Amino acid sequence: MSAEFDTVAAWTAAVARDLGPRYHVPAGCRGSGSPAALDWLIDALEMRDGQTLLDCGAGVGGPAAYAVGRHPVTPVLVEPEAGACRAARSLFDYPTVQASADALPFNDAAFDAAWCLGVLCTTDDHDAVLHELRRVVRPPGRIGLLAFLTPTPLTDEETPEGNNFPTPESLDQAVAAAGLRVEARVRTSDLPAIPEDWQHRVDRVDEELERRYGDDPAWQVSERQSGQMGELLGDGRIVGEVLSLRLA
Ligand SMILES: C[S@@+](CC[C@H](N)C(=O)[O-])C[C@H]1O[C@@H](n2cnc3c(N)ncnc32)[C@H](O)[C@@H]1O
Repeated sequence: MSAEFDTVAAWTAAVARDLGPRYHVPAGCRGSGSPAALDWLIDALEMRDGQTLLDCGAGVGGPAAYAVGRHPVTPVLVEPEAGACRAARSLFDYPTVQASADALPFNDAAFDAAWCLGVLCTTDDHDAVLHELRRVVRPPGRIGLLAFLTPTPLTDEETPEGNNFPTPESLDQAVAAAGLRVEARVRTSDLPAIPEDWQHRVDRVDEELERRYGDDPAWQVSERQSGQMGELLGDGRIVGEVLSLRLA
């Protein structure tokens, strides 16, 4: 996972900086990917100008910057990988804290809203992550998730290294155990497709990453992992869902 979330995050920021500001946000969305998913969450979380948004497992920081583009919210980023923290800071310069979602270094009720995009499946303890999100958000508990779920659990051999996918049922149980409820949810496959111009910029960043780092084992591991995820999503063994939560 470090290859993908640390080394490649740092390379991605370097490429995006060289290509220019139009590339920063699409390059910085590594996992959430789709503007439609982010728009859905921003609306469902009823974010307003000036409110604070915790982006938990922020990666390179693109989703937080996308949110700021919609409303001038004040983001704070949490991310365990040092390379990703530096990458996010270099592209967007938001406050970025190196920490884990299951032990957030913030006071209770410190934020108006929080989101956690493409992160749950990379953590071992989904209950702990949801408890922490609930703890740091003020009532009514506006929390957004992008979750990759396995309707039928994968075998160890089928599971991309370092992943621990919730089932729809185990996610619902973890949400309830954290004192939260699902206010709205939608499959990512039911949302509008990625706009051509956005996809073009993502492809341009990937081409440049391949050109610069294609021979590096870290790039090859990361490509293998994304390829595996792509196949599992393609054949429906994994489904993406965006969810808007509130206090139960
Ligand atoms: C698929 S990426 C998504 C990044 C970003 N949220 C996005 O949508 O562009 C998953 C991120 O979760 C981070 N992550 C992994 N374990 C974590 C943990 N225990 N707490 C917080 N973040 C974690 C990874 O380092 C990585 O940046």
